[in-house]
Amino acid sequence: MCPSSADDSTSHAALMSNGVSVFVEPSRRICSSNQSFSARYARNAPCYSGAMASELSKVKLSRPERGEPHIVVESLSKQYGAAAVLRNVNATFRAGQIAVVVGGSGAGKTTLLKILAGLDQPTSGTVLIGGVDLTQLDELQLNEVRKHIGMVFQYSALLDSMSVFDNVAFPLREHTKLTPAEIRARVERELSRLGLGDATEKFPAELSGGMSKRVALARALILEPAIVMYDEPTSGLDPVMARAVDRLIVNTRDRLGVTSVVISHDMAAARRVADQIHLLDGGQPVASGTPEELVASDSHLVRELFQSSGIDSRRLLAEHVAGIPQPG
Ligand SMILES: Nc1ncnc2c1ncn2[C@@H]1O[C@H](COP(=O)(O)OP(=O)(O)OP(=O)(O)O)[C@@H](O)[C@H]1O
Ligand SMILES: [Mg+2]
Repeated sequence: MCPSSADDSTSHAALMSNGVSVFVEPSRRICSSNQSFSARYARNAPCYSGAMASELSKVKLSRPERGEPHIVVESLSKQYGAAAVLRNVNATFRAGQIAVVVGGSGAGKTTLLKILAGLDQPTSGTVLIGGVDLTQLDELQLNEVRKHIGMVFQYSALLDSMSVFDNVAFPLREHTKLTPAEIRARVERELSRLGLGDATEKFPAELSGGMSKRVALARALILEPAIVMYDEPTSGLDPVMARAVDRLIVNTRDRLGVTSVVISHDMAAARRVADQIHLLDGGQPVASGTPEELVASDSHLVRELFQSSGIDSRRLLAEHVAGIPQPG
């Protein structure tokens, strides 16, 4: 949808890239920006002033200490028509930790992630982030919450018509009052941290898969969010690049202390990066725990998932038990 066509009845507009909504904004908020991309699309729609919008949308999220609950999901269900996609999901995501949600195709992983990020609403249940229930917020307030959450989408979802620099600068231009010089300094610092210093003027079509993921991560981190969510961050990458992205996820947690939620179908990757793993099957959580706890699980499904990722959990468990010093 083009926001310039938004009228009074339009509550919000999504900026789409490759079929994915990269930014969701109340259409009036999009109109209020006089900078960059959104201004070109929103000339005729009515606008709130920036001050009025921020007054309307005040939300105070607390940032818990490392290890404390940060995102708490209770009795969460999502129905699409007759199809129950998520059923009574309860889960806690702890501050400063990496939680990996693993499940087969169609298990409901992306649906869960979108609800956690405030991009979709559940049919019932609650999602508490920093003590605030997302299900009770209006669009303007949700928009405020989204600034605290960096999203790395499955296919990176970069904006094809913009350079790497402009993709990463986009959230700063939309959401901050930084000067162009300040934006340049911050974007260049983030890009060089992620090894992209030479790629600032390239366009998405000129990037490798791994580079695109790093640009998507730079864009997700540029507003210094407390939470980063990754949907299948290693899909489509070769094993070497996939390991590099895994390391990036761990480094990001260690460097910034962010709470990370990673969606994956790969138990091997989950085992490498996760502090906690949540297994989803048919829209329901069927197991959760540390990687070691899941290796020790006697659940048939857990074993199957380990096996499909090339891991022999029985052997790992035997090695693990053999490695534990015996008393006396
Ligand atoms: N907007 C929608 N409308 C109707 N059904 C939907 C919608 N979004 C998802 N679904 C359905 O919900 C189920 C779960 O989808 P979801 O994308 O969450 O799965 P997933 O675990 O991420 O799968 P994959 O690993 O293939 O990405 C699927 O059966 C899907 O068809
Ligand atoms: Mg998915």
